[in-house]
This record gives sequence, C-alpha cells and structure tokens, in this order.
Amino acid sequence: MSLPLTPLERLVVAMDVPTRAEALALARTLKGRVGMLKVGLELFCAEGPEFVKEVQAYAPVFLDLKLHDIPNTVARALEALMPLDVSLINIHAQGGPAMMEAASAVVRAHRSRGGRTQLLAVTVLTSLDREALARMGHTAEPGEMALHLARLAQSCGLDGVVCSPQEAGSVRDACGEGFHRLTPGIRPQGSAAQDQARILTPAQAIRGGSTWLVVGRPITQAPDPAAAAETILAEMAQA
Ligand code: C5P
Repeated sequence: MSLPLTPLERLVVAMDVPTRAEALALARTLKGRVGMLKVGLELFCAEGPEFVKEVQAYAPVFLDLKLHDIPNTVARALEALMPLDVSLINIHAQGGPAMMEAASAVVRAHRSRGGRTQLLAVTVLTSLDREALARMGHTAEPGEMALHLARLAQSCGLDGVVCSPQEAGSVRDACGEGFHRLTPGIRPQGSAAQDQARILTPAQAIRGGSTWLVVGRPITQAPDPAAAAETILAEMAQA
C-alpha cells in the first residue's frame, strides 16, 4: 500500500498566467512549496510540450487538457504525450467507456515501463448546471451524474476524477480511498470567492475527502505567492 500523501504533495497550483515568462517566474517562486503545477490548455497550446519540460524542472506537472474524442484519437494523443511523463493528465468521462478504456490502456502501459503518469476523468464540468444538462438531454442532477461517471471511470481503469470538493466525499465512499479526487474551488479563510460558486477552505477540502487541492488565484495573485502557499500548506497540515 502507498503511504498517505503529505500536504505538500496534495497542493496543486494552477498556473493561469498568460505567458511563458510569467509561468516560469511563478514556478521558480513556488519551487519546494507545491506538489504539482497545473499547465492548462491555454499555456499548452501557446507554448507546447517543451514548455512542460521547463516547468518540470521546478515541480511535477498536472497537464490539464481534458481530452475528449473517439477512442483511437484520444489513445494516440495520450501516446504522443506519455514521453513527458507528467504526474497527472485528464480526459472527459463523457467520451464514454470505450474511450476511457483505450486511454487507460495507454497510461497503464506507460506505467508498466516505469512511467509515473496517472489518468483522471472530468465527470461533469462545473460550468454545467441542471438546466444546461436538461437542455443537453440529460435528466440527472449534476451531482448524481458526476457520481455515476466516477463509478464508470473507475470500472474503465482510471485512477481518479476531477470533481467539486463537495462531491469528493461521496466519490470516496462509492469508489474507495485509492480512487483519487482532485478538486478545484478552494479558497482559504478570508479570501475572495471570485467567480467560484461552491467553495471550501483547504482544511474543509482535506477533511471532506479531496486527494489533491487545485489552488489558483489565492496563490498566483497574492502579493507574495510563496507566503500564500506556505499559509495554505499550514492549514492543510492542521486538517
Ligand atoms: O483561481 P482558482 O483557484 O479559481 O483556479 C482554479 C483552477 O481550477 C482554474 O485553473 C480553473 O480553470 C480550474 N477548474 C475550476 N473548476 C473546475 C475545473 C477546473 O476552477 N470545475
């Protein structure tokens, strides 16, 4: 059995900054204070795989590309990305079981060769509410649908899901501790919610069953990002 993760290993900082220079400056500042740095679609499209390698000099990377296509295309895209050996990568659960199985097979083959990448599924985008789902032809509540897709992702061999911190506990109860929950929407006590609607503090998220906490603006827009990360790590350690 693997050891429990430390607060440092659980903290993922979203590098939502527009340029390579700003991202690398942030990575430098946060070195040794974060478990992972999240590179999203915008930076990846602008800067490419070489940039991911540069970031990995400072911390392991979560490559947040949310792939969604037919099984063969997603599997081939993942194969092309495996040489980066990022720590986490993700796909959309709504790509369906055959797509998730094909994706999982690629990542598992990579791990059998000594790679470290783990594969997560995005269940239901938090930008989709009940009304939006209904307009798309789905009758389930977003939370119900997320749990259903988490179970499906687990049965297809994935390592965990991206979910709201409010759903982390029910996913853990349904799928077990070893099926990971990565949760954005984290705000330390006293910091502004900004555009996040359903937020939890770092301590609440840890107690509620999150494996990894994704934190963006409370760190990246703080006057002193290193100090902000230290404060969050201390709060996580207390939980
Ligand atoms: O700045 P903030 O802490 O809100 O950043 C959260 C990060 O997590 C952003 O990169 C955002 O795109 C991402 N995210 C999210 N909610 C989701 C999925 C991803 O906030 N449901």
